[in-house]
Amino acid sequence: MYDFDEHIDQRGTHNSKWDDMEKIYGLSPDDALPMWVADMDFRPPQAVNDAVREAAIQGTHGYFGDDTDYLASISGWMQRRHNWTVAPDTIATTHGVVAGVGLCLRAYTEPGDGIILFTPVYHAFARMIHANDRLVHESPLTLRDGRYDLDLDTLAASLTGNEKMMIFCSPHNPGGRIWSPDELRAVAEFCRAHDLLLVCDEIHHDIIHPGHRHTPMPLAAPDCLDRLVMLSAASKVFNIAGGLTGNAIIPDQKLRARFNHAHRASGTSLNRLGVLMVTAAYSTGDDWVDALCAYLQENAAVFAAGIADIPGVRMTQMESTYLSWVDFTGTGMSQEEINDRLLKRARIAASDGPVFGTGGEGFIRFNIGTNRSRINEAVSRLQDAFSDLQ
Ligand SMILES: Cc1ncc(COP(=O)(O)O)c(C=O)c1O
Repeated sequence: MYDFDEHIDQRGTHNSKWDDMEKIYGLSPDDALPMWVADMDFRPPQAVNDAVREAAIQGTHGYFGDDTDYLASISGWMQRRHNWTVAPDTIATTHGVVAGVGLCLRAYTEPGDGIILFTPVYHAFARMIHANDRLVHESPLTLRDGRYDLDLDTLAASLTGNEKMMIFCSPHNPGGRIWSPDELRAVAEFCRAHDLLLVCDEIHHDIIHPGHRHTPMPLAAPDCLDRLVMLSAASKVFNIAGGLTGNAIIPDQKLRARFNHAHRASGTSLNRLGVLMVTAAYSTGDDWVDALCAYLQENAAVFAAGIADIPGVRMTQMESTYLSWVDFTGTGMSQEEINDRLLKRARIAASDGPVFGTGGEGFIRFNIGTNRSRINEAVSRLQDAFSDLQ
């Protein structure tokens, strides 16, 4: 019904993953595989492009007003997909989730405050913390049998009293893990015990591989709503990240007021095309997302099986996202050598593990949100690049 195998030529379209690859990796988009920036090589559902087309045909592009349908589409999606009732007036619309992280940092913390991250984790968190003159407090995850676990006891012992906020990634990028309701509750309880604000980034929460189940933090920890900001977006799952539209869902009225104050100070308003795309996606995209998740799960299986043939290389268990986190530590190679082989032999642009913080050494993140034929091609290039290990 949906053709995720279709090859769409994105060269020359200002798509960062394709058109910035040469500048950043020195690899030509004519023959290299871009597996770095986290967007996909698929068109969004037809209704999304229809909404953009209708706006272009109507042809005026002034400031966006009356967000009733847009907010209703978000509430409807959360109810249908996550069994979660979201009151429209608890939703704040940001210029994406990273912008939402920045607003949280400025709304709820001061320069010099410590912010807890479970590493390895999405690199923009640390970048935003540093850019806002706050301090990163790392809590390294423990890898057991290809699956990450939290270590809250060690984290508790490491606290200095300066920590004011935790940014939690659920499902986890880059580990691909879905946290259980018990783990989510433990995280929220930890924040209560140590008086931390909890920012839960759930941008990947619609990319759930069939057979797995995700629980939104507000449902797992209803007792902690007075310290919770949940960030979400349609951008990852519908591949509309260029629409720069994300949401901060803040059930607590006092927390919401502080967020809105920081938001007003940033001077931003709604992105017209972003809002139109999100409304169309959330209103009609259920079947498309189901089909996408099944396709991505198969991509993950093909990729994991292919790289498992390389001695010392294995992928962490992937239950969510299209970001495959691959452990090269068993090869005994340095990060430099791994990257060198990826660039020169495989001609693949992927994300370097150490940028995700402690625990990222010896790892590479591959974006597998692409056509199956490109996954097969990536596997064969990687097998060749490390063929001397066979
Ligand atoms: C966990 C996480 N949060 C946020 C983002 C980016 O969000 P946005 O483009 O809405 O700023 C990403 C992109 O990869 C991500 O993985």
